[in-house]
Amino acid sequence: MKSMLMNMPGMLMFLLMTLNVTGQKSQPVVVDVDRPKAEIQPTMWGIFFEDINQAADGGIYAELVMNRSFEFFNPRAGWGVKAFSKDSSALVILNRGISNQANPRFARISVTAEMPSYCLSNKGFRGMGVKAGNRYHFSMLASLPESGSMKLRIELVDAGGKPIGESSITLQGNEWKKYSTELTSGKTDAHARLNIWFEDQGVADIDMVSLFPHDTWKNRPGGLRADLVQLLADLKPGFLRFPGGCIVEGRELDTRYKWKKTVGPVEERQLIVNRWNTEFKHRPSPDYFQSFGLGFYEYFLLSEDIGAEPLPILNCGMACQFNTAEVVPVDQLDPYIQDALDLIEFANGSPDTKWGKIRADMGHPEPFGMKLLGIGNEQWGPQYFERLEKFEKVLREKHPEITLILSAGPFAEGDLFDFAWTKLEQYAPQVVDEHYYKEPAWFFKNASRYDSYKRDGHKIFAGEYAAQSVNTTSPDNQNNWECALSEAAFMTGLERNADVVTMCSYAPLLAHTEGWQWTPDLIWFDNLKSFGTANYYVQKLFSNYKGTDVLSMLYENKPLTGKDGLYGSAVWDRNTSEIILKVVNATTKPLMPEIVLKSRKKLPADATMIVLKSDKLTNLNSIDQPLLIQPSEVAIKLNGKKLNLSFAPHSLTIIRIKQN
Ligand code: AHR
Repeated sequence: MKSMLMNMPGMLMFLLMTLNVTGQKSQPVVVDVDRPKAEIQPTMWGIFFEDINQAADGGIYAELVMNRSFEFFNPRAGWGVKAFSKDSSALVILNRGISNQANPRFARISVTAEMPSYCLSNKGFRGMGVKAGNRYHFSMLASLPESGSMKLRIELVDAGGKPIGESSITLQGNEWKKYSTELTSGKTDAHARLNIWFEDQGVADIDMVSLFPHDTWKNRPGGLRADLVQLLADLKPGFLRFPGGCIVEGRELDTRYKWKKTVGPVEERQLIVNRWNTEFKHRPSPDYFQSFGLGFYEYFLLSEDIGAEPLPILNCGMACQFNTAEVVPVDQLDPYIQDALDLIEFANGSPDTKWGKIRADMGHPEPFGMKLLGIGNEQWGPQYFERLEKFEKVLREKHPEITLILSAGPFAEGDLFDFAWTKLEQYAPQVVDEHYYKEPAWFFKNASRYDSYKRDGHKIFAGEYAAQSVNTTSPDNQNNWECALSEAAFMTGLERNADVVTMCSYAPLLAHTEGWQWTPDLIWFDNLKSFGTANYYVQKLFSNYKGTDVLSMLYENKPLTGKDGLYGSAVWDRNTSEIILKVVNATTKPLMPEIVLKSRKKLPADATMIVLKSDKLTNLNSIDQPLLIQPSEVAIKLNGKKLNLSFAPHSLTIIRIKQN
C-alpha cells in the first residue's frame, strides 16, 4: 500500500485524492480533534459467554472426561467397556438417591476370576485432545465396598487405540477417597481416549473420574483451556456477560440456570441437561449436559483475569418464550429475587456473610466488585414487565449501587420491541439490552440507528449481535468477510453514539467445529486448535482501540453512515494521547476521501494504519486457514493536518495518530 502511494506520480495522486469514487470533487472528511463530544465507557466492547456449541464442557472448561459423574440421562454415555469375559454385571450404575442429591450416581465394577482383565474406557467430548509431552492430571473418587486393595492402570490411547501414556493408582479401603496420578502423552492426537484397567479381582466404586491438562489458563488445576482464554483476553473486553443467553432461561423452568448449584466443590454441583441438547433437529446434541465445572465462581474469576467487568444475567421467573414459556406466578417470585440478592452477597459481600464465605472458601476472600446485573435474558411481553417490576423494586431499594440490565426482547424492531420500549420508558434510567441477528444489509443500514435515540434516558447494551449470512439459526450461516465488514460499519455507529451505547457484545462467542448448534460464532475451536473469525478481528480492533472520548467526524457535514460507501467514527484516547479513526469502505473500489484533522495543536508527521480486508466477501477463516483474514499494519505520513489515503475495497481501516 505504502509503496503504491510512493510510486504514484504527484499530480495523478493529488487528483485521485481529491476526487470521490464517481470522479467528482468531493468534500473532505473533517475530524474535530479538540472538542471531544462524549466519554466512551470502559465497558464499551465486551464479550457474551453462553454454554452453546460446546463452549463450556468440551470447550473452554478443560475437563477431558465426558460424563465424569455418570449423571447423564444415560449414565453410561461416553463410557465403553472392554471385558474379557461375558459377565455383563461387571458394570452397574448405583444411585444413592437422597443421600447425595447433587451427584447420586456412581459406577460399581466387579472383577471376578473368570475375567482376566476389565477396562472402562471414556471417549471424551468427541475424543480427547492431547499433546505430545504434555502432562495430564488424572483423579477420581473411589471406594472398595469389600475393603482390601485394587490396582488400576490408567492409560491414554490414541484414536487407533495405541497406548500413548500410562500410570497407575492403588485403591484401598472402603472409605470414599480421592485418588490421583499424572500421565504424560507421547503423542499429539485430537481424538485420544482414556482407559482405566482394573487389574485385581474385587469390587470398586468410582465417581468423578477426571483428566485435566496441566497447561490450563494460569496453570490452574481443574481450570480453563489456555488458548481459548488467551483469545478472549486479547480482545481486552470491557465486560464478560455470563452465563448466556437462553441458557439462563432453560427450555422449562426446571432446567433454568440456578447459579447456587454451580458453586462450591465440583462434586457437589448438580449436573443438568444443556438446553441446546435438543433445540435444533438439524444439529442434535444428545450428549450435551452442563457439569458446571465452569460455574459462577469461575466466571467471576475469568472476568477478573481478563480485566472485564462481571455481568451475570439471572432468570426472572420465566423459561424460554421460544420453547415452553413457563412462568412463575408473580406472587411466588421471592426465591428468584432472593437469588439475585444472594448473588450480590456472593460477589461483593464480606467473608462474614453466608454467601461471601462460600466465595472466600473457594479461594477469593476479596470481593469481585460486581456492578452490573441483568434481570432476564431476552424476555418479552407483559409477563416480563410484571416480573421485572418486582425485581426492580427490591434491588433499587437494597442495592442502588448495582446497575440493572433490562431486556428489550429478542428482536431489533417490531411490535414486541415497541411494546418493550413503552414499558421501559416507565423505569428510571438503567441499561437496556437490545439484540440483533440480522442480514449484513441491515447492519450497513443501521449504522445510524442510535443517532436518533434519546440522550437522557436508558443507556443501551447491544447485548447480542451478529450478521447472518443466510438466516438466523440457519446451519449454513458463515463467519464470512461480508458479515464482519457489515458489523464493522454498524459498530462505527455504536462508537459514534457512545454517550448512549455503553456496552456491546457479539454473540455467540465460542463454537466447537464438531459440536456446534448455532452459527455464526466469534471463535471456533476443535479439541486442539482455535482461531478467531474475521468478526473476531473486527471486535478486537474496535476494542483494542476503543479510546476514551468520541470525536466528531463529518463528511459533507453529516456522520459517515454509508454515503458513497463510507462509514466512520473517530475517538480520542486520553491514556495514550492518540487520535484514532475507524473507516469502513463498503464498496468494490478504493475510496480516497481527504481527511482533515481540525486541531489547534501541531500533529505529528507519522501515523499507523491497520487494515483488515479480504479479496472476496465470501472468504472466511477456518481451522486450516486461521489467519486468512487478519489485520496488517503499515506506517503512514500526515500531510500537515491532512491525511490522503486510499481505503482498500471492502476494508476496515484503523488510523492511529499519536500526539506528542
Ligand atoms: O446467541 C444465541 C441465542 O440467541 C441466545 O441464547 C439467545 O439469547 C438469543 O436468542
